[in-house]
Amino acid sequence: MEAEAAAATLNLECCLPVPSVQELAIQQPEAVPPRYIRDHVVGDHVITVNPSSDRVPLIDMNKLVDPDSQDAELRRLHSACKHWGLFQLINHGAADESLRNMKKQAQEFFDLPLEEKKRWGQKPGSLEGYGQAFVISEEQKLDWNDMIFLRTLPHEIRKLDLWPEHPPKFRETLETYSEEMRKVATSLVRSMAMALELEAQEISDAYQEGLYEVRTTLYPPCPEPERVIGITQHADYSGITLLLECGNIPGLQVLKDGQWVTVIPVDGAIVANIGHIMEIMSNGIYKAPDHRAMVNRFKERRSITTFCFPSSSVKIGPAKEFTKSGTPPLYRTLTYAEYRHMFYNRRLDVPFIDMLKI
Ligand code: OGA
Ligand code: NI
Repeated sequence: MEAEAAAATLNLECCLPVPSVQELAIQQPEAVPPRYIRDHVVGDHVITVNPSSDRVPLIDMNKLVDPDSQDAELRRLHSACKHWGLFQLINHGAADESLRNMKKQAQEFFDLPLEEKKRWGQKPGSLEGYGQAFVISEEQKLDWNDMIFLRTLPHEIRKLDLWPEHPPKFRETLETYSEEMRKVATSLVRSMAMALELEAQEISDAYQEGLYEVRTTLYPPCPEPERVIGITQHADYSGITLLLECGNIPGLQVLKDGQWVTVIPVDGAIVANIGHIMEIMSNGIYKAPDHRAMVNRFKERRSITTFCFPSSSVKIGPAKEFTKSGTPPLYRTLTYAEYRHMFYNRRLDVPFIDMLKI
């Protein structure tokens, strides 16, 4: 990204319209347009298969709730959140049918003609809708993806004028899907709170009444996959994020001890990661990991990410249990409105978490 654009503080909800990557890929260009070339950040390789010692942890939700296995699985969860900030969750309890339907709707939506998708396009001043995230200047390098981003819960925050009416089942499927993700998030944060020895009920209630945003992303095939990035390196501003892979195509990478580790999709699993709010609440015990997505030469990849936030009435700050014994808070405490405002009015060249540290 151009230094000037990155250094400026801009409202990131105001997206500049950019071409559809999917349309670009359909034309099967031999080379990638310069706006997408990221040679200096991609690093030495695209998708590497890691040695098994580097596999991201696998956590079993059944074991987290079964009294016989709970203690041991909570320890594994704690370690995964501390050392990776990302893991694959199996037996998560979300209805298979809902996940299947959501994947199908996502595919059918992106398969629609461009003009139809554009009916649900982002409007000036809002990130919601079909388009691309955080495009603030004409010079900025672009990610190799198209997406549709919608706030789904609580019901009152929905902007239904941006919810696709095609495919016909999209709306009800997204609605059911976000309810399922809320169930998973509520249960998972309860376990995290237990692992951190915090008041679990209060935290799971906050996510039961929380805010949920769903981003469905399409990564079209790319003639020069080693020169582009699907999603730029970032950490999520959520409490936790739940990612559903729509196929078996690797793309997501997590930064672990300075190395990019590819997340190999596990059938039936949901990828969960820590977001900034959980990092702050744990006073830095859990870390929101940097991650990015790479793309494939021949295959299109789709993913569905749900950003899960506690209720907007909850203050965002280190839990009192961590600070009352005299440990200094490492992060500021903010209202949800202040936190959101800071996120959407930040410089893109400074990690957001650094702005929240004391
Ligand atoms: C995100 C994200 C990665 C992926 O939506 O925040 O990191 O693999 N997505 O789609
Ligand atoms: Ni992310």
